[in-house]
Amino acid sequence: MSIVIGLDVGTSGTKAVAIDEGGRLLASALVEYPLHCPHPSWAEQNPADWEQAALEVLSRLAQSIDARAVKAIGLTGQMHGSVFLDADNKVIRPALLWCDQRTAPQCEAINAKVGEQKLIELVSNPALTGFTAPKILWLRDNEPQHYERLRKVLLPKDYIRYVLTGEFATDVADASGTLLFDVKNRCWSQSMITLLGLDPAILPRAYEGPEVTGTLSAQAAARTQLPAGIPVVAGGGDQAAGGIGCGVVRAGVVSASLGTSGVVFAFSDTVQTDPEGRVHTFCHAVPGKWHVMGVMLAAGGALRWFRDELCGEEMERAAGSGRDPYEYITESAASIPPGSEGLVFLPYLTGERTPHKDPHAKGAFIGLSLKHTKAHMARAVLEGVSFGMRDGVEIMRGMGVAVSQVRISGGGARSSLWKQIMADACGAPMVTINVDEGPAYGAAILSSVAAGLYDSVEQACDSIIDETARTPVDKESAAKLDPWYGEFKALYPALAPRFRSMSALLGAP
Ligand code: XUL
Repeated sequence: MSIVIGLDVGTSGTKAVAIDEGGRLLASALVEYPLHCPHPSWAEQNPADWEQAALEVLSRLAQSIDARAVKAIGLTGQMHGSVFLDADNKVIRPALLWCDQRTAPQCEAINAKVGEQKLIELVSNPALTGFTAPKILWLRDNEPQHYERLRKVLLPKDYIRYVLTGEFATDVADASGTLLFDVKNRCWSQSMITLLGLDPAILPRAYEGPEVTGTLSAQAAARTQLPAGIPVVAGGGDQAAGGIGCGVVRAGVVSASLGTSGVVFAFSDTVQTDPEGRVHTFCHAVPGKWHVMGVMLAAGGALRWFRDELCGEEMERAAGSGRDPYEYITESAASIPPGSEGLVFLPYLTGERTPHKDPHAKGAFIGLSLKHTKAHMARAVLEGVSFGMRDGVEIMRGMGVAVSQVRISGGGARSSLWKQIMADACGAPMVTINVDEGPAYGAAILSSVAAGLYDSVEQACDSIIDETARTPVDKESAAKLDPWYGEFKALYPALAPRFRSMSALLGAP
């Protein structure tokens, strides 16, 4: 038997899966860690926490599988985060994450220096606060004592690659989210690096998703109980790897993941950009292919906020009954009609990216009346997030991307109500597939290609991934929901100036 491993350095935890050559799940392990918010719009993590978690999940897998049968390890993880290393390869300060919003002034500086049009030409994407280049400039502007020591910038999973192999490497999909990568030509953009005054030596070498970037070092082998010398594969940013785990390797199939963030993801044979930069255009982890995606910063994260802050009672009941609190929340939401009787939720709890590139955007319940209950609020949260996902789908349709079905994944895909609302909001059937292990599974598929178990990523996906269930659009509910999407769309532009002035009152730059 051949075994391959996928390792996902996520935001809430690091997860590893081991699968056999037929894609069957043999074992999985997860270790969680905290996210630190030293200021309201900041989000940081300690790379040491990822390191400890990665070594721990790999050790747990090593104990439950035949470790000698492991042919390759593929890496994936949260994108855009910045691990700053010094000349001794030591971490200089906590990493700034994808959802950190502190870099608005640096994005403005990039736009002024490079020009918004030129940026799209060079790196196929606009300057967004979550991306990596603005984080490097933030370090230069705000912590010069740290910037002086900077020798390497790595993405989160690539720091773990360094821990496992001693190599500095990344993959083209994750590199695409740095704003320093020439997405069209699949290499670092020397022009962009020069324009920003950065040293190209700080960046690791970029590989295609199924390429081998190094092997498990003796030191890492001793810390994980896996044999030294296992090839470690480039893999992909979590969205590209998640797309592969859902079989999005051909035109027409779109995926929607409802995790902490909400992502609409479409395959593309060519480089397609939205002139307004509302969706991202990145290299896919399928060699020579691309993907476009819309990213909402708070999707499942908005429901988690609702659960944690307003559903103490449901959480207690769940603890007593052994059920998931989300089941109680979605059951109550199911008793409310489409449109939540006029209650609209804006899900911009940590600012937004798609379709509003606005770090100051905020969450809101609009339309509250005495009639509304917590159940209405729960349904409004599910609808508001689904409307945000529809925004992404509509932009893709406008770019000529066919949306014949949406493969839905992430925690949200476990709720039949949320899948129905998504189908009705997006006007496309929601399809679930036989695997639901997220990006870690996609990274494992990439490593199975590297290990020679399949000839191509497409062939691996065709053999492993099957549709298991389909939630069609309910025309009647969709018709009732539709006018509320109109209200939802109109609310952000109406409130945006207030969001900005409220941020200023809160002391944002
Ligand atoms: C993608 C993005 C998030 C993170 C977190 O652009 O920012 O999906 O990768 O998982």
